[in-house]
Amino acid sequence: MREFNVCIVGGGSTFTLGFLKSFVRMKKDFPLKKLVLFDIDQERQDVVGKFGDILYREQFPELDFSYTTDSKEAYEGMDFVFMQMRAGGLPMRAQDEHIPLSMGMVGQETCGAGGMAYGLRSIVEMIKAVHEIREYAPDAWILNYSNPAAIVAEALRREFPADHRILNICDQPENVVRSCSRLLGCSWEDLDPVYFGLNHYGWFTHIYDKHTGEDLLPKIKELIKKQGFLPQDAEQRDPSWLDTYGMVETMMKDFPEFLPNTYDQYYLYPDYKAETLDPNFTRADEVMAGREKRVFAECEEIIAAGTLGDKFDDISDAHAEMMIEVAVAIAFNKNNRHILIVENNGAIANIQDDAMVEVVCELGANGPRPMGVGNIPQFYLGLLVNQVSSEKLLVDAYYENSYQKALEAFTLNRLVNDGKKARKVLDALIEVNQGMWPELR
Ligand code: G6P
Ligand code: MN
Repeated sequence: MREFNVCIVGGGSTFTLGFLKSFVRMKKDFPLKKLVLFDIDQERQDVVGKFGDILYREQFPELDFSYTTDSKEAYEGMDFVFMQMRAGGLPMRAQDEHIPLSMGMVGQETCGAGGMAYGLRSIVEMIKAVHEIREYAPDAWILNYSNPAAIVAEALRREFPADHRILNICDQPENVVRSCSRLLGCSWEDLDPVYFGLNHYGWFTHIYDKHTGEDLLPKIKELIKKQGFLPQDAEQRDPSWLDTYGMVETMMKDFPEFLPNTYDQYYLYPDYKAETLDPNFTRADEVMAGREKRVFAECEEIIAAGTLGDKFDDISDAHAEMMIEVAVAIAFNKNNRHILIVENNGAIANIQDDAMVEVVCELGANGPRPMGVGNIPQFYLGLLVNQVSSEKLLVDAYYENSYQKALEAFTLNRLVNDGKKARKVLDALIEVNQGMWPELR
């Protein structure tokens, strides 16, 4: 069987451990020859890398594993590059969340003003990185998880129009499907969803039982009404994630037609979210106090012991699993269904062709084949066209170094929605993003 070379960009991320363990668990499905971690932050990279040395020595000795801060070493000879970079790191995520909240607007990693701030940083770094990858690995599949995925996808579409081996992915739609399986008491793999939207802004119109063909959405709605909505892995989640999933119940009360993505809450209730999120302790703070400490402590402990001992847990990690399954679908031409971010080209019939939309696709060796959903109802169309416009204007701002376009993007975004507020928050974000954003004139 063929074996693959994989690079993870953002090797020092708190999500990398899940990948490293999943590669062991899934080595039969996705045989690896070589794995390289790449990060520009040597300190974080070294800790995760040393953990990897021990893990693979004990669990996967035939794997050629290394970690580096050198891009040539990272990319040369790669079949797949998994990208999960966080431009500006968690400290800048905190700024993206705190600054808008301090002005009475939603402060969130990928939505609203914070998401746009992160978007401009990510565009700069992602475009640079993809050019470098293409220098050393012209045919590698680039699987991008880096956020804000909607904005990054639009920028990569424009920068690399002829490159058909870049795929943008988010795990959230699949996480919602997994939550439904928890409610139904079945395996998430038995569910066949129909979904439309943009990244972090979409809806499920049907969730079919793969075996009987029954649409389970009515049943799921009843169960949510009675039991609320929890992530599949609720026991491993921080309190803020339980709130986030809990809001699905509220959304289903007010807008019962389709099952929403958890992120829709920011767009449907911007005032409520801005009032109830804690401006002094946002999700970034929770991650820095929790997952970041936990992951690095786990690494340090194993490095100090020099062995995994009985410390090795291989709890399944939905994030990593999905990315690896996406690679498997391409590598072995599986034509499995995944919810992916692709150029619209009619998939949502009443949205412009060049929008980057999120829909179910069949995925094989030649990439994704989107499954059309026809026209979407006016309510969703209105919301999504507004957001597509905001995202496109932000990418215009990057290419044209245009303050005006950025101001328009911010003004149009539902989580800002006012020209004066837009200018105020944009100016504050320009201040803290100096050197990380394109210059806006
Ligand atoms: C989900 C989203 C990702 C996002 C992540 C943040 O998985 O799909 O796009 O980056 O949540 O998780 P965190 O635990 O860091 O808040
Ligand atoms: Mn996502």
